[in-house]
Amino acid sequence: MARLRGTSAPLPQGQDAWPLLNEQVYGSHARGGNTGRPDPALVAGWSWERAFGRAAPLFLEVGFNRGKFITALAERFPDHNVVGIEIRRKFAWRLSQLTAAAGGPAHLRLLWGDAKVLLADLFGPGSLQGMFITFPDPWWKRRHSKRRLVDTRFAEELAERVAVGGAVWVKSDVELIAHEIRDALLARPEFGALTPFAQDDLPLTYRETSCVRHGLPVIRFRVTRLDVPFAGRLDALYAAEEAARALRPEAPPEGYVEPPLEDADTHEDTDADADADTAGDA
Ligand SMILES: C[S@@+](CC[C@H](N)C(=O)[O-])C[C@H]1O[C@@H](n2cnc3c(N)ncnc32)[C@H](O)[C@@H]1O
Repeated sequence: MARLRGTSAPLPQGQDAWPLLNEQVYGSHARGGNTGRPDPALVAGWSWERAFGRAAPLFLEVGFNRGKFITALAERFPDHNVVGIEIRRKFAWRLSQLTAAAGGPAHLRLLWGDAKVLLADLFGPGSLQGMFITFPDPWWKRRHSKRRLVDTRFAEELAERVAVGGAVWVKSDVELIAHEIRDALLARPEFGALTPFAQDDLPLTYRETSCVRHGLPVIRFRVTRLDVPFAGRLDALYAAEEAARALRPEAPPEGYVEPPLEDADTHEDTDADADADTAGDA
């Protein structure tokens, strides 16, 4: 399997590139990451049906990383279209090549980009049957807090985009993060029916595999999109979140154990590597 050190992973081209949608969205597979918005001319009238070549319920995973979960999800749900968004270039490029080399899953598509941007630009109201938030980065430092994936604004985007009866599925090994996400989702009147789910209900992610192996706890729950109209922007939620942010600890709680990951290359990533790998033009 291709190594993952630093920023390296070759640009998928020709036959290697079919799972990757960056050319259709940004105009080039070498553009993406935190580059900003997609090219408006390219994404006007964006159609997932066209991107997949078939109509099917749509699943989205954010932060697919090594791709263990999203690949298994696509294999488990052959009747769904499955799309993943990953902000790190090397993971998006590498999984595209591995998927192409394996000849599928044919109903899997990938984007190297920022989910916070792409969710708004590529997903219409009620377009998602399932959204999977798997071990999001905690971003403990206050000055990084804007990078956290799920806040009340993201919850608002999801409330509009998840179809009635669809669900947001969450897994995390950090209790505080899991609870923040739960609270942001349930603060929306469109989400309810909080349901814990079991380890076997979905495929394991890369990080989760390590947690399970080392006996570390994982929090798993889903919320369902209720049959109520989208309530729109709820300013009181933003204000409450702002106030809560000031009280949030800036470090993991005492006793938290980071799951030891199998691929030691992960730990060789410096902050500079990660920044370069996220930056929008390769
Ligand atoms: C802690 S890792 C978890 C990876 C994988 N889901 C797992 O459970 O093994 C979080 C992943 O989310 C990605 N990520 C963070 N913020 C993102 C964003 N705004 N859009 C897309 N991906 C993001 C990171 O690059 C990283 O690969």
